[in-house]
Amino acid sequence: MDITAEESFGIATKRQVLAQIVVCSGCCCGRTDKGKPEIPVDWLKQTWKERRLQKHVQLTISGCLGPCDIVNVVSMITGEGQRWFGGIEGAEPFRWLVEWAQETADLGESAELPAELLQYEFQRFV
Ligand code: FES
Repeated sequence: MDITAEESFGIATKRQVLAQIVVCSGCCCGRTDKGKPEIPVDWLKQTWKERRLQKHVQLTISGCLGPCDIVNVVSMITGEGQRWFGGIEGAEPFRWLVEWAQETADLGESAELPAELLQYEFQRFV
């Protein structure tokens, strides 16, 4: 007998997604007034909206995620786990994230991570 998610976890959401991208926009990340590299928050939100990605890959602009020493931190959460990226400068890595989200939405499962993003990956937990 198959066990439903509700039976396994006791509660279920109707808003299940394939992944969630959490972009830090806290006390340091994206704070150009503090000399930090810009994060294209408005462009990300607009692009997510135009491509209707939110139902598939949740975009969350968050407060401080913790590792401020790295700045411009992004966390990617999928059914396979959570990955962390940081030290992101320029718009290109954010375009790669959008393309990954689009591919994930199109595939209906987590797409392979663009190899270029790996240079920004770090280990968050000890
Ligand atoms: S402000 Fe982004 S990690 Fe703290």
